[in-house]
Amino acid sequence: MANVILFIACCFVGLCTAEETKNVHDKMYMMLEATTPCVLRLNGSQSFGCTSSRNGNVGVIHLVHNSTDFDWVLGSPPMDSYILALNLDMFSFENLKKLNDSDRISGVLLMQKMPRKDIVKFSPEDTCPNRYSGLAGPPKRKNTCEPVPWNPKTIYSSISMYKWKMPIFFTKDNATITKVEECYSRFNVPLETQLERSLCALKMSAHMFGSVDSTTCIRRSNMAYSINPIRFCDPLGDDNVWAPVVPFSRTPEPNRKYIIVAARLDSNSLFYGLTPGALSTATSLVTLLSTAHLLFQLTSSSPTIKQNVLFILFNGEAYDYIGSSRVVYDMNLGQFPFPEHPIRLENISLFVELSQLRNDKSVMYHTLKSPATSNFLTDFTSKAATFGITINDASSNSHFPPASFQSFLAKNENISGFVFGSYGSQFTNRFYHSLYDDAANVNYTYTDNSTIADDSLQAFVANFSTALARSLYRQMTEKEADGSSVADRRLVDEMLHCYVDSTDCKFANDSDYSVDLRHYPQLDYYVGVRRSLSQVTLLTRHALVHLLGRSVNASKDECTNRVNPSQYTHSYWSDVGNRCLESAMNATDAVSPAFIQADYDLAAGVYSSWTESVWQNIDVRIFVQPSPGYERLVFVVGNVVLVTSFVAIYWIKRNSRELFNYPHLMTASNI
Ligand SMILES: *[C@@H]1O[C@H](CO)[C@@H](O)[C@H](O)[C@H]1NC(C)=O
Ligand SMILES: *[C@@H]1O[C@H](CO)[C@@H](O)[C@H](O)[C@H]1NC(C)=O
Ligand SMILES: *[C@@H]1O[C@H](CO)[C@@H](O)[C@H](O)[C@H]1NC(C)=O
Ligand SMILES: *[C@@H]1O[C@H](CO)[C@@H](O)[C@H](O)[C@H]1NC(C)=O
Ligand SMILES: *[C@@H]1O[C@H](CO)[C@@H](O)[C@H](O)[C@H]1NC(C)=O
Repeated sequence: MANVILFIACCFVGLCTAEETKNVHDKMYMMLEATTPCVLRLNGSQSFGCTSSRNGNVGVIHLVHNSTDFDWVLGSPPMDSYILALNLDMFSFENLKKLNDSDRISGVLLMQKMPRKDIVKFSPEDTCPNRYSGLAGPPKRKNTCEPVPWNPKTIYSSISMYKWKMPIFFTKDNATITKVEECYSRFNVPLETQLERSLCALKMSAHMFGSVDSTTCIRRSNMAYSINPIRFCDPLGDDNVWAPVVPFSRTPEPNRKYIIVAARLDSNSLFYGLTPGALSTATSLVTLLSTAHLLFQLTSSSPTIKQNVLFILFNGEAYDYIGSSRVVYDMNLGQFPFPEHPIRLENISLFVELSQLRNDKSVMYHTLKSPATSNFLTDFTSKAATFGITINDASSNSHFPPASFQSFLAKNENISGFVFGSYGSQFTNRFYHSLYDDAANVNYTYTDNSTIADDSLQAFVANFSTALARSLYRQMTEKEADGSSVADRRLVDEMLHCYVDSTDCKFANDSDYSVDLRHYPQLDYYVGVRRSLSQVTLLTRHALVHLLGRSVNASKDECTNRVNPSQYTHSYWSDVGNRCLESAMNATDAVSPAFIQADYDLAAGVYSSWTESVWQNIDVRIFVQPSPGYERLVFVVGNVVLVTSFVAIYWIKRNSRELFNYPHLMTASNI
C-alpha cells in the first residue's frame, strides 16, 4: 500500500518537473563572455566602484529605452529583483543613484549599441580629478579647480567616484546585445503579466572581497595572514620609468642642475581592462619619447653640458599622484635616483610636463608663478612658431590643472615649470579617463608606411617635439641646435600605432619587446596592482633603451656583463639589432609612501592610499527563470512529498511486521 502511494508521489513530482525543466533548459543558460565589469577600489577612508553579493546578483532583465521604461521599474513592478539593460543616454549619475537607492535593482548592464562615432561625450571621472591631493592636499590645501572645474560637468560626472551596491557591466558586443534583447522580448513582455510566466534573467557575479576602506581591508589582510594567507586588497602601484639624456656620473654632482621633462604612464576608466588612455596619456607619452630621442641625437656629439635633462614617466597619477608623490618623497630623503647620487628639489631648474596634447595649432601652458622672463619659454615659443604652433598662456595663479608637477609644487612652490596641454581653462577631452579615450578621440590613423600628411597627429607630435628638443638642447648647452635635425615622423607614427592601436606593432618589435598578443591585443593604461608591471611600463622601458641607447662594441656575452665604471648605465643585448646598447634608463617604485612607512595612518590623506579589491570570479550568465507560479508549485509539491514521506515512513515502521516478514529480527528483539 505504502509503496503504491510513494510511487505515485514520485511520478507526480518527476513528471511535472521533467516537463518544466526540459522547457527551461532548452531555452537557455549561458555565459555572456564579452562583458566587462566595474570593480571595487578603496582609499584610506571610503570605497568606490561596484560589487555583487558573494554568490552573484540575480535579476529579471528589464530593457530600458526611455524614461518611461526606467520609471516603470522604479514604481512597483511585479518581480522582486531586476537587472537593467540600458544605453549610454540613460546611464547618468542621477539615474544610477535612483537605481542604487531602490531595493529592487540588483544590477546594471550598460550596452553600447550606437556606433563609436556617434558618441560625443563620456567621462565618469570627477569634475576635479585628484581633488584631495597635490596642491589641494595637506599642507597647502589650495583649491586649484575653481571657478570652472577642469573636467567639464556632464550627466556622467563622478560615476567612478562613488560606491555602487550593484554590479555594473559593460558590453558593446553585438551578439551579446542581441541575445539579451531577444531573450527579453521573447519572455519578459508584456510587463504586466510577468508573475504568470517564466522570465529571462541575468546573474552577475563580481563579488569584491575588499570592503569599507583601505585601512580596514589592509588590517584584515594582515590579521588573516598569521592563520591563513588571505588578501582582501592590494595597493595600487607600478614603476616610474626614467632616463637622463646624459647618464648620471658615479661620482656625486651636488650642484648639478636638472631639467625634468615629465608625462604620465597611466590613465583610468570605469570598466576593468578598457583603459585606452589615448589623449589623457598616450599622445603626451609619445611626444616625450620623440623629444628624448631627438635630444639624445643632438647631444651625442656635445660632451660639455651646463645642465642635464631627465625624462620621467610617472605611473599611478590617476590615483592621487602615486608615482610623482613617491619621487618627491624619495628626493626629500636624498634617495632619488640613487642614494650615492641624489637629486634634490633645489636641483631642479625647470619642470616641463606634457599633458593631453592633441593635434592643435594652439598649445596652452599653465604655470603657477608666471616667470614672465623665462628664457626657456620665450625660446620655445619662437621655435614652435616656426612649425606653425602657437604657445599661449592659460595660467592663472589659482587655477592649476591636475598634473604630476603638483606633487613637486606641493613641496616647493618656487620650482619653475610649465604644463603644456591642448586645453585652456577646461579640458577639451570629452572622454577623459574613460573607455572612449581611444584612437578616434585623438583622430589618429596609422599610415602603415604611406605618406604622413602635414596636418596629421603624427606631424604635429614630430613638430612639437622638434621644437621642444631644440629648446631643451639650448638650455643644456647654451648653444643652438643644428637646424636640420628634426624628429622622425615615421617613428612617431610607429610609436603611436603601438601606444594607441595595437601591440602587434613594428616599434615594439624593433625595441625587442614581445607581447603575448592573445592576452594584450591593446595596451591598457590602468595602473593596476604592483605585483605585475603593466604592459605600458614594460614597453616604455624597452622604448627608452632603444631611443636613448648608445651602441657599444661588445659581443652578446660581454654585453650582459658589462659595467660602466664611471656612469650609472646598464647594457642590453638587442636581438633585433644584433648589437649591444648601453643605456641609462632605469625605473623606481611607483608605490605610494603610505605603504612603505610602517606607522602611516592610511586615513590621514597625506599620501595616496588607494588599493584594489581582490576578487575570485567575474561573469555574467543569462538564463530563463521559472515563473513564480511554477516555483510555488515546486515548493508545494516538495512539501507534500516531505509530509507524505514522513507519514509513510511512520506507517511503514508501525506495520513493518505485517509488511515485511522478518522472523529473525523479531527473535533478536525479543531476547
Ligand atoms: C577618500 O576619498 C574621499 C572622497 O573622494 C575623500 O573625501 C577622502 O578624503 C579620501 N580619503 C583619503 C584618506 O584620501
Ligand atoms: C518608451 O519605450 C517603449 C518601448 O520600450 C515604448 O513602448 C514607449 O512608447 C516609449 N515611450 C516614450 C514616451 O517614448
Ligand atoms: C549606494 O548604496 C549603498 C548601500 O546602500 C551606499 O553605501 C552608497 O553610498 C550608495 N551610493 C550612492 C552613489 O548613493
Ligand atoms: C621660495 O622663495 C621665497 C622667496 O624667494 C623664499 O622666501 C622661500 O623660502 C622659498 N621656498 C622654498 C621652499 O624654497
Ligand atoms: C637601476 O639602478 C639600480 C641601482 O644602481 C641597478 O641596480 C639596476 O640594475 C638598474 N636597473 C636598470 C634596469 O638599469
